[in-house]
Amino acid sequence: MQYLPIFTKLDNKPVLIIGGGEVALRKCRAFLQARGRVTLVAPEFCHELLEMAQEKTVTLVHDYFSPEQLDGQMLVIAATDLNAVNEAVFNAANERNIFVNVVDDQPKCSFIFPSIVDRNPITIAISSAGTAPVLARRLREKLETLIPQHIGPLAELVGSFRHKVKQRFKQFSDRRQFWESVFDSQVVSKVQTGDIDAASAQLDAMLNNTVEPEGEVYVIGAGPGDPELLTLKALQLMQQADVVVYDYLVSDEIMELVRRDADLICVGKRMGNHSVEQHDTNQLLVRLAKEGKKVCRIKGGDPFIYGRGGEEVQVLVANHVNYQIVPGITAAAGCAAYAGIPLTHRDHAQAIQFVTGHCKKDGQDLDWRSLAQPHQTLAVYMGVVKSPHIQAKLIEHGRAATTPVAIVENGTRKNQRVVTGQLGSLAELIEHNNIQSPALLIIGEVAQLHHELAWFGKQSQTSSFAQPLTDIA
Ligand SMILES: C[S@@+](CC[C@H](N)C(=O)[O-])C[C@H]1O[C@@H](n2cnc3c(N)ncnc32)[C@H](O)[C@@H]1O
Repeated sequence: MQYLPIFTKLDNKPVLIIGGGEVALRKCRAFLQARGRVTLVAPEFCHELLEMAQEKTVTLVHDYFSPEQLDGQMLVIAATDLNAVNEAVFNAANERNIFVNVVDDQPKCSFIFPSIVDRNPITIAISSAGTAPVLARRLREKLETLIPQHIGPLAELVGSFRHKVKQRFKQFSDRRQFWESVFDSQVVSKVQTGDIDAASAQLDAMLNNTVEPEGEVYVIGAGPGDPELLTLKALQLMQQADVVVYDYLVSDEIMELVRRDADLICVGKRMGNHSVEQHDTNQLLVRLAKEGKKVCRIKGGDPFIYGRGGEEVQVLVANHVNYQIVPGITAAAGCAAYAGIPLTHRDHAQAIQFVTGHCKKDGQDLDWRSLAQPHQTLAVYMGVVKSPHIQAKLIEHGRAATTPVAIVENGTRKNQRVVTGQLGSLAELIEHNNIQSPALLIIGEVAQLHHELAWFGKQSQTSSFAQPLTDIA
């Protein structure tokens, strides 16, 4: 190990920066964040440093560097453009055994600034010992996405209980076991949802042995398929799950991201082929949560858009099960974006309606008069089978047969396919191109913009809506 990672408490200790420009300013800010007492030495200073000096946050010495300026300092930074000065600072610091950092000159650094993931009071520092700072920065970005924001408040809460826990458990091993159970408990999700009082009450209850292990259900929208469209929150909760209850619509790449040792339960749902009845899925979620498990209920797209998430959450509420809801990118948004079709556009569509082609068996028919209005876009979910009906009803209620349409099959996935045409031949387009589920219908003038704006998917098969059908098939 070339550098020993230590976290130092500056707490008003003196640090010196030789230099008065942008770089010096950046380093100065880092020291001030850690409450260092900063002095800067340079013949001239940038205006931000001059302002900071006026506010008495830093001390400026308008002078050239001389070695005695280092006396009594704890750390020194050389941030000048002049090699000779930087070298002189380095030598003077070494003679005095003061830690020194010459900016951008790693051999002349006895300490370095790591890349930091800041979840105060939790801090993660990453260093490549100066060999690959960009790589270290990339690693930091990865960690930023993986480490949830609530880790900071959680650490603070836990810190405020340390004394009580020490009083309650005299043995170190008992204390460790207690903390392990806390981090597996509802305390974490209560902090996550911002309810620090409830988290604190639960910690108290755990200390007093008056709490039963509680499960929880995370109702998560996984988006239309591209795993990179998952939200950070979805990913973090997927990593915590004991059990994952998922639909067919959730892509394999997304299922790869759930915690390795979680139990996986597929509850199906393909049109006309419900492998598990909705009632049974609802009861399954309640049962698993009551067993104290963390249950990830993953759904394609957004759970509250044609996802029956609302019904499931109603059952959880009725059964007093804790839950969180994580929105996902709905198919209309994902498919449209990846097909280069803006759902609204000042010149073409001032409104968008999300519609299902697959109503309840006893459901009323759709409001075709409203759906056939011009200057709007329709995003039709589950519309493939009913496409002849949709086409006929829209035209019957006044939508032009020449209205552009796009059918996006497997939107946002590697095998995405986009077929375009006109409303008057919607059903034939679907049949001739053998469109498979999942597919979304986009009806409206915006559909023609696909030809101009499409960017994703080499395999996209587009058929000009201006062409006769025989050219398309
Ligand atoms: C039961 S609905 C679920 C909708 C989901 N909750 C959402 O917000 O996207 C299923 C329908 O969504 C559409 N869909 C979902 N994912 C899709 C995808 N990757 N490509 C095209 N359509 C998709 C299809 O119309 C499919 O029949």
